[in-house]
Amino acid sequence: PHKGPLNGRRIVVTAGPTFEPLDPVRGMTNRSSGRQGYAIAEALARKGADVTLISGPVALPAPGGVRRIDVETADQMLEASLNALPCDVFVAVAAVADWRPKQAATEKQKKGPDAELSVTFVKNPDILETVSKHLDFRPKLVIGFAAETSELEAYARAKLASKGCDAILANDVSDDVFGSAKNQVSLADLDGFTAIPGTTKADVANFVARYIHKRLG
Ligand code: C5P
Repeated sequence: PHKGPLNGRRIVVTAGPTFEPLDPVRGMTNRSSGRQGYAIAEALARKGADVTLISGPVALPAPGGVRRIDVETADQMLEASLNALPCDVFVAVAAVADWRPKQAATEKQKKGPDAELSVTFVKNPDILETVSKHLDFRPKLVIGFAAETSELEAYARAKLASKGCDAILANDVSDDVFGSAKNQVSLADLDGFTAIPGTTKADVANFVARYIHKRLG
């Protein structure tokens, strides 16, 4: 563990996509490389925080000094998140699938003669909202992400209110963001709406680490 201003702070970061199985060989997932969440976990560990990184399936190595817990589904990510409480700060960066197939077949589904296939999906739990509204272990600071292609500030404000978190990082994904090192992010909290200086995921991670340090006092 590094020595730094966040020594003694327990911080949980969710990152990557979730994968929701349809059968043993197929499933539904979200576009997320995990790079932004991993960069945030790394920046926090460098400042001395005790970081737990709860990660969906990604092709990235765990940053040094970070405890990584691998999960696949939203249900597993929620369970791991609740198991990681209490913590001082929770940062939800994961691109959680909003829906999962109602039933996951235990055998590979065979192609039939039908030209169409219907699958019933059920809603996944909202991890950020569950942690934000936790009655016993609500962290001091809960931060979420919102990827939007328009109306960044309005959607970020709405999400802040509905999910009950303290800050939302509003991510403009109308440009080439997925899988790249670049990112364009603003931060919405009760004090206002500020564009984060810099354009890389490392810039965003360093800003978030400084913001957390400032907010914890
Ligand atoms: O509602 P939306 O998916 O846009 O919210 C994005 C934020 O909520 C992100 O911080 C994401 O990690 C979190 N989230 C979650 N669980 C879900 C859906 C989103 O934690 N099921």
